[in-house]
Amino acid sequence: MTTRQTLALHGGEKLRKTPMPPRLAFGPAERQALLEAADHYAARQEDPPYQGRYEEEFCRRFAEFQGGGFADAVSSGTASVFVALAALGLPKGSEVIISPVTDSGPLNCIIMLGLVPVLADSAPDDYNMGLEQLTSRFTSRTTGVLAVHSAGQPLAIDEMVEAAHARGIKVLEDCSQAPGALWKGRRVGVYGDIAAFSTMYRKSLTAGASGGLVYSPTEETYRQALAHADRGKPSWRKDLDLRDPGHALFPALNFNTDELSCAIGIASLARLDEAVAARREFLRRLCAELPRASRVCRPSKADPGCSPFYFPILVDEGAITCTKTEFARAVAAEGIGLGEHYGCVVNSWDFAKSYFADDFVTKNALSMRDRSFNLYVNERYGEQEISDVLAAIAKVEAWYAR
Ligand SMILES: Cc1ncc(COP(=O)(O)O)c(C=O)c1O
Repeated sequence: MTTRQTLALHGGEKLRKTPMPPRLAFGPAERQALLEAADHYAARQEDPPYQGRYEEEFCRRFAEFQGGGFADAVSSGTASVFVALAALGLPKGSEVIISPVTDSGPLNCIIMLGLVPVLADSAPDDYNMGLEQLTSRFTSRTTGVLAVHSAGQPLAIDEMVEAAHARGIKVLEDCSQAPGALWKGRRVGVYGDIAAFSTMYRKSLTAGASGGLVYSPTEETYRQALAHADRGKPSWRKDLDLRDPGHALFPALNFNTDELSCAIGIASLARLDEAVAARREFLRRLCAELPRASRVCRPSKADPGCSPFYFPILVDEGAITCTKTEFARAVAAEGIGLGEHYGCVVNSWDFAKSYFADDFVTKNALSMRDRSFNLYVNERYGEQEISDVLAAIAKVEAWYAR
């Protein structure tokens, strides 16, 4: 019989005595790259600019990482979605379907570009949009889909793009939470018409505190993105006089990033595959062991090609005497890093409600949020963290089990 130990939440001894391993995205390699870039410009008696050699290298390496295509580094993930969506040239007032779980930045981009957001639901027990849930929201006014690879889990993006393209609808993949994830052997981001990535400091690929990348498989869309990222400038033209704004193709904002950020991005990209592999391995082992250790918690869907960002764990409220949130709070109090209630379910944002085409409710996404907590994951999690997560869940379960 399991002995019931007083929970840390109730003043008992904490199961994990040390903090979960910090990720340190700005590690020794990133610090060295930053200093080298600063020294490079200092040696030349030049100020680090934008659109310089480090940005060129970061974009080139990222396009190679994607297996070909074109990339432009910008100032944030939100900027990358804005630029990518603008580059698609969708008619004002037309509808763009958005995933049910994302940051507010992508939704705001749709609104600020004069487009009408339409919500699609996730698949059951998943934060990722399902194919049926997507196609059931197509109307004659749909011109675009903003498809988010949530939590680092790849969408069935090939089928989604096929269904959208069959109706002349463009697809923007938001890979902010899933850089390096694979779907059917290819990187996410290469399937749609254009893709956006956030490289802010909490993401798996980091280019300093804030940053983003726009990626396009085709040069034509890439050029549109370049101009939308920098005041409408046709920067690919050899005869462009950068001091003459009169050459702009159209009005656009300035979303440039800078050389020092891109130097950090180059170093972060060089270790992305390794970081993703370590995160995947942690999840693989956790998913294998959780069903043996718990009757209350079960892992959400984990694709073998995922690039884990966080990991939802489903809690069976029927098997416990407390709520899911209380359960998760008790696990967190034992020293496990997690989010007990996910705020990124778009349907729950009051500020956005009046902008949607209709009052569609994403029941699956809301239900997933209400039955799960998000375990934080990073590449420094290993054996000890697997055993602590399982032990903390078992301890809390022993207390609250029916
Ligand atoms: C899916 C998704 N898209 C876009 C963004 C916006 O990125 P940023 O914070 O770099 O603007 C985020 C950030 O959390 C995100 O998770």
